Amino acid sequence: MAEFPFWHILGAGSIGGLWAARLHQAGRAPVMVLRHERLAEYQGLHIEQEGLIPVAAVSSATPTADIKRLLVCCKSTDTLAALSSMTRSIQEDTLIVLVQNGMGTYEQVCQRFPANRILCGTTTHGAFRPAPFHIVPAGEGETLIGSLDSSEHPPPSLTAEIESLNCPGFVTRYVHPILPTLWRKLAINCAINPLTVRYQCRNGELLNIPRARTEMAGICSEILAVSRALGRMEGIENLESIVTAVAHQTAANHSSMLQDVRAGRTSEIESITGYLCRIAQDCGISTPLNNALYQEILTLQQTLPSPL
Ligand SMILES: NC(=O)c1ccc[n+]([C@@H]2O[C@H](COP(=O)([O-])OP(=O)(O)OC[C@H]3O[C@@H](n4cnc5c(N)ncnc54)[C@H](OP(=O)(O)O)[C@@H]3O)[C@@H](O)[C@H]2O)c1
Repeated sequence: MAEFPFWHILGAGSIGGLWAARLHQAGRAPVMVLRHERLAEYQGLHIEQEGLIPVAAVSSATPTADIKRLLVCCKSTDTLAALSSMTRSIQEDTLIVLVQNGMGTYEQVCQRFPANRILCGTTTHGAFRPAPFHIVPAGEGETLIGSLDSSEHPPPSLTAEIESLNCPGFVTRYVHPILPTLWRKLAINCAINPLTVRYQCRNGELLNIPRARTEMAGICSEILAVSRALGRMEGIENLESIVTAVAHQTAANHSSMLQDVRAGRTSEIESITGYLCRIAQDCGISTPLNNALYQEILTLQQTLPSPL
């Protein structure tokens, strides 16, 4: 066995591609799994200001026997279809790690691959993709990964496997339990991303629009009501201040939800606000502001023209 465990990466976009490049630069020999139709145009990953990084790639349609560890960095909306396109390569002992915004995909993937160990994570790294396989890094952060089964104490070998994803330029840690981290990220995304679509503005501009600020406060109190009912208050007691600080820190950014809606792509609203609204309904908690934003963005997605 190699000194470092060997990873396949599905979802070679901004985050998955950048991570693959950093692992390659660290000598970990990752292999990207691409849509079959993308393979012919792939010549390596172009990382802005660094040049071409020759990360290996295979087609998702070609059965591959040796996939033991699969890192999935697709958008939540694409994850199940992407995994389903390579079922012949996913064995019962393939470890699947989902790193994405939003929640709810984990349950779908568990249902589709009931025998597999599935972990979840979230990242604060930033990157964007002006063209396929051309990635512009946009800020180093941290990636936290763990099990959503909080009763399961992670074996040290699992922690070591995950920490083999840690490399210069892509700090990664195993965290147990991971649920508070994912829930906190969901709460922040719910309070910023859909409002940037409603007001068609950058994250920081929300703080200068009095009506948006009032709505942000209302969204935070709805999320806190749901969090209290679920006993998930850890790390979000002062949610409104956290959200305000994140909007300040990311003031110049256009949220990915706004970018998706403007480009006519399906956004991750379903796994962000949609997920929150479904959980709230299950708890019998009313979330009218979140429900209205959810419906508004679904409607916008349906009315805007799709990309060619
Ligand atoms: N970008 C950021 O700065 C950032 C920061 C924090 C969190 N995130 C989260 O990280 C996740 C990934 O975001 P991203 O910005 O990296 O997205 P992205 O640039 O759109 O990359 C997604 C990748 O998934 C691939 N994909 C989709 N369906 C596939 C399929 N059926 N088979 C194979 N590949 C498939 C896409 O390939 P095609 O190009 O062929 O469609 C694309 O390369 C999202 O949940 C996002 O919210 C992103």
